[in-house]
Amino acid sequence: MKNTFALRLLTMAMLAAAGLASTATLSYAQNGEKLAQQLCASCHGPGGHSESPMFPRLAGQTQEYLENQLHSFHNHARGETDARSYMWAMASQLDDATIKSLAEYYSHQTPTPGTPGGNPALIAKGEDIFHHGVPSAGVPACASCHGAEAQGMGQFPRLAGQHEEYLLRQLGVFKNGTRANAPMMTAVAHALNGEEAQAVAAYLNSK
Ligand code: HEC
Ligand code: HEC
Repeated sequence: MKNTFALRLLTMAMLAAAGLASTATLSYAQNGEKLAQQLCASCHGPGGHSESPMFPRLAGQTQEYLENQLHSFHNHARGETDARSYMWAMASQLDDATIKSLAEYYSHQTPTPGTPGGNPALIAKGEDIFHHGVPSAGVPACASCHGAEAQGMGQFPRLAGQHEEYLLRQLGVFKNGTRANAPMMTAVAHALNGEEAQAVAAYLNSK
C-alpha cells in the first residue's frame, strides 16, 4: 500500500514536471520527442533503451503496436498490475495526437541490440520454439506473427532484444488473464509450459 502511494506521488510529480498536469500545456505535449526525453526516459531510458528489466525497451518497436498499447493503457483495456500502477496515470494525460507522436518517435529509434551470453542449450531450445512452435502442445511458431527475426510488424510487436524478465512477465500475465485484451497471446501463453517460456525469452533477449 505504502509503495503504491509513493509511486502515485512520484508519477504525479513527474507529470507535473513535464507540464502535463495542466491541460493548457497539452499542445506542447504533442511533441513526442520532447515528452519522451523529459518524462518517459526516466523509466524507459534515453531513446527507449531501458536498462532495468522492470521497464520494457521501446526503441525500434513498431508504431502501430506502441499506439495500440498507449490507447489500451488510456482506456484501461490492458490491466495487469504493473500496467495499472505505472502506465494508467501516465496514459490518462495523453491525447490521440500525442500518442501518435510518441509512437512515431520510438519506432524510429535504432533497436537495442540483444544481450550476448546466456545458457546456449536454453537459447537453442528457445530458437527452435520461436521458429517451429511446439506442435505436440499446440504452440504455434512465434515467427509466424512476430517475424522471422522477431522484428515485429504492425500490430505484432518486436520481441528481439527485449528484456528477458519483461518477456517472461508478459507471458505470465497473458496466462493469468490480467493482460486480457490480446486473445491471440492468451491462447499461446496457455499452451506454453514454464520451461518453454523461459527458453523462448532467453533466446529473444539474446537476439
Ligand atoms: C514511472 C515509470 C514509467 C514512466 C515514467 C513511463 N512508463 Fe511506460 N511502462 C512502465 C512499466 C513498468 C511498463 C510495463 C508494464 C507491465 O509490465 O505491464 C511500461 C510499459 C509501457 C509500454 C508497453 C510496452 C510494451 O512492450 O508492451 C509503452 C508503449 C510505454 N510504457 C510507453 C510509455 C511512454 C510513451 C511514456 C511517457 C509518456 C512512459 N511509458 C512513461 C513504466 C513507466
Ligand atoms: C497468431 C499470432 C501470434 C503468435 C503465433 C504469437 N504471438 Fe505474441 N503477440 C501477438 C500479438 C497480436 C501481440 C500484441 C498483443 C497486444 O496488442 O497487446 C503479441 C504480444 C506478445 C508479447 C508481448 C510483448 C510486449 O512488448 O509486451 C510477447 C512477450 C509475445 N507476444 C510472445 C510470443 C511468443 C513467445 C510466441 C510463440 C510461442 C508468440 N508470441 C506467438 C500475436 C502472436
